[in-house]
Amino acid sequence: MTHAPVNVTVTGAAGQIGYALLFRIASGQLLGTDTPVKLRLLEIPQAVKAAEGTALELQDGAFPLLAGVDIFDDAKQAFEGTNVALLVGARPRTKGMERGDLLEANGGIFKPQGEAINAGAADDIKVLVVGNPANTNALIAQAHAPDVPAERFTAMTRLDHNRALAQLAGKLGVSVADIKKLTIWGNHSATQYPDIFHAEVNGKNAAEAVNDQNWLENEFIPRVAKRGAEIIEARGASSAASAASAAIDHVHDWVNGTPAGDWTSMAIPSDGSYGVPEGLIASFPVTCSGGSYEIVQGLEINDFSRAKIDASVQELSDEREAVRKLGLV
Ligand code: NAD
Ligand code: LMR
Repeated sequence: MTHAPVNVTVTGAAGQIGYALLFRIASGQLLGTDTPVKLRLLEIPQAVKAAEGTALELQDGAFPLLAGVDIFDDAKQAFEGTNVALLVGARPRTKGMERGDLLEANGGIFKPQGEAINAGAADDIKVLVVGNPANTNALIAQAHAPDVPAERFTAMTRLDHNRALAQLAGKLGVSVADIKKLTIWGNHSATQYPDIFHAEVNGKNAAEAVNDQNWLENEFIPRVAKRGAEIIEARGASSAASAASAAIDHVHDWVNGTPAGDWTSMAIPSDGSYGVPEGLIASFPVTCSGGSYEIVQGLEINDFSRAKIDASVQELSDEREAVRKLGLV
């Protein structure tokens, strides 16, 4: 072991994503196999007992990298000294419910968590918001953490990125590993735009390799954008193991870097790049290195992509307006 233990706080630890996530963190897949972790689990009081049960199982996993598990029902304590915060706890969308309906219910959760991060997290804190509506929840948390650099608050579109990789690989009969430079733009919602115009498949342009605008517009984009709803319809519950896996990928790449010649998708505070209003937490193509990320610059955006990006960004602006009206940002 080459590092001191890293404190990782997971909210909603007793939920279905938490159950899939914690064991992978404990095994070293979040930060790397030479980094011990101390888990700090936050739950609501009614779910603390279930979180304690998961902690017993974590102990039974005999993970060499797991340096401790503490359970809290108080946000201030849970974020004390934390280096990585995975904000998962929220109310999942159920059948027939639109994500917009969740804004108010979840706003109340992310404000106090932002305040707690501001008050007690470590200086190098990195935050990933998974709980929906993830982009706007991240905005709320960030608004209440004025002493933390804004860019440390991110939201998850890596699941969408991974879904798009899998769909494109299926269409072209290649492995996901053959695909590079795919991008999810905008919101983690049905308006998101999975962009293959800059993607490469074994070095060839992906849009040219597909050469099927009908598939792109009427199958690929809606399939990826509505995959969350498809999973809910099939499982009767929202995606869990795939969401946990994407959270691992997001933080792993943020901390350890993206591979050379590739990029990934992260929802991050906009600096105005690609015409996305500054401050909105929107998904962009990013590269990571040395523990920080950068937006990939200089991509040519065609008219088709422009309209799709604008529509998703408009939804994010509307969500920001809605939470402004609720006094949450
Ligand atoms: P779940 O209902 O199984 O678990 C949520 C847990 O959060 C529960 O145990 C609950 O007690 C806890 N919780 C609620 N309020 C809390 C608070 N204030 N502090 C701490 N814990 C709290 O839900 P899940 O399936 O694990 O999903 C969690 C969230 O992730 C949902 O909002 C879901 O929509 C979202 N999600 C996001 C993505 C993405 O790609 N961004 C993908 C899948 C799911
Ligand atoms: C998902 O993408 O699977 C989740 O965000 C669930 C949802 O509410 O769509």
